[in-house]
Amino acid sequence: MKIAFGNDHSALALKRELVSYLEGKGHEILDCGTNSPEMCDYPVYGERAALAVQRGEADCGLLICGTGVGISLAANKVRGIRAVVCSEPYSAMLSKQHNNTNMLALGARVVGPELAKMIVDAWLDAEFLGGRHQGRVDLVMDIERRQSE
Ligand code: RB5
Repeated sequence: MKIAFGNDHSALALKRELVSYLEGKGHEILDCGTNSPEMCDYPVYGERAALAVQRGEADCGLLICGTGVGISLAANKVRGIRAVVCSEPYSAMLSKQHNNTNMLALGARVVGPELAKMIVDAWLDAEFLGGRHQGRVDLVMDIERRQSE
């Protein structure tokens, strides 16, 4: 799977650990930055990674900032993006099965590296169940459509 990766300065160590973990499992990473420890603005990297997913340059995306909150909010402003911030695997799995999320955000100041790997695995391994959930996801996306009319 090709995974777009966006993060801010607070997430460099966790990003490096997750990139090598995911590459070790055969995934390809599209690194949308940052790779600098200099303080930066998470919306810049959230938008870059979200655009890569929107354009089909990646199959899905991972985002990390201090809490995962700011960068997921930024990504969710990009049309077609359904980003979720999770700090445990159960919600990550259900966010894919029920909500068909296409980006997962983590908080580098919230979860440690081993828990982060479990959350990412739960999310990547899960599949959208469709059925009754499809209509609800469609209703969510209708809100986005009406907003841009
Ligand atoms: C940066 O200090 C911090 O605000 C950012 O990483 C993130 O937690 C925002 O939601």
